[in-house]
Amino acid sequence: MSEYPTVRLRRLRHNPLVRDMIRETHLRKSDLIYPLFVAPGSGVKNEVRSMPGVFQMSIDVLVEECKEVVALGIPAIILFGIPEHKDEVGSEAYDDEGIIQRAVRAIKKVINNLLVITDVCLCEYTSHGHCGLLRDGEILNDETVELLVKEAISHAKAGADMIAPSDMMDGRVAAIRHGLDENGFSKIPIMSYAVKYSSGYYGPFRDAADSTPAFGDRRSHQMDEANSDEAIREAESDILEGADIIMVKPAGPYMDVIRRIKDEFNIPLAAYQVSGEYSIIKAGGKLDWIDEERVMIESLLGIKRAGADMILTYFAKDVAKLLKE
Ligand code: PBG
Ligand code: ZN
Repeated sequence: MSEYPTVRLRRLRHNPLVRDMIRETHLRKSDLIYPLFVAPGSGVKNEVRSMPGVFQMSIDVLVEECKEVVALGIPAIILFGIPEHKDEVGSEAYDDEGIIQRAVRAIKKVINNLLVITDVCLCEYTSHGHCGLLRDGEILNDETVELLVKEAISHAKAGADMIAPSDMMDGRVAAIRHGLDENGFSKIPIMSYAVKYSSGYYGPFRDAADSTPAFGDRRSHQMDEANSDEAIREAESDILEGADIIMVKPAGPYMDVIRRIKDEFNIPLAAYQVSGEYSIIKAGGKLDWIDEERVMIESLLGIKRAGADMILTYFAKDVAKLLKE
């Protein structure tokens, strides 16, 4: 290797055409998955207080939104439900007439070129806001998994294209895979929230989905933010259980983990730029303290550079509008 002055790294930075040519990472519309919140009623479009530009929408409004999403060239959405009624056991999560099931059917009836992914968990549907069944204040694992399987099957029956379990119970990927296969859905992929940290960045989402736990926290099932070796074990076990896509969540504060998983396993990797990551950038922009558009793109490009193949992001529409292709 020669050195300066023969080597000049700035040489490739003068001409923008050359800069474009040597760009290593690209953000594409086909990388994007747009999260959407479905609520009961009709004509409902409520902006989430802590997430400007994000709305709870009733099914009729959601269907119109999906048409716009398709027109922008975004290939996929992920749906979160806000049920009419919550109860101790999260009944509406696995009810064939539940909010998600009806939403998926309504979308599929009129739109055929949009990938509809459904989030599978109980926390949006339980009166206590926890991700599973409770006994003496503790979340039961195996009993919860049985309900998650019912939820996943019921989403698939409604027409969901992909199932995304976000609950972090042990063994749920294998159980859901088995349940889907037995019910004729062996072609439906599972995108597993395999590496999901117990994060302060979920705050605004809990406003959006109305899923703040009534007491306690999620530390008995979500990961400790200090750990990354454990992320490898989580990813490995979900891959062995049949997960098709592995997710790391949140994305921005865990880019080291994204890179480790990508290097360690030969599997498609999703990263979720969560509500708090979105809200912080939005807030900085609103205050005029940062250039929102620039930081948005930089945050997403960073997540891709770290190793993500696809990104779940509330910025999906904004990005799609910016990207020409
Ligand atoms: C439900 C779920 C959560 C998110 C996605 N699925 C919240 C949580 O675990 O409290 C967070 C998404 C976001 O913050 O954007 N288990
Ligand atoms: Zn949950």
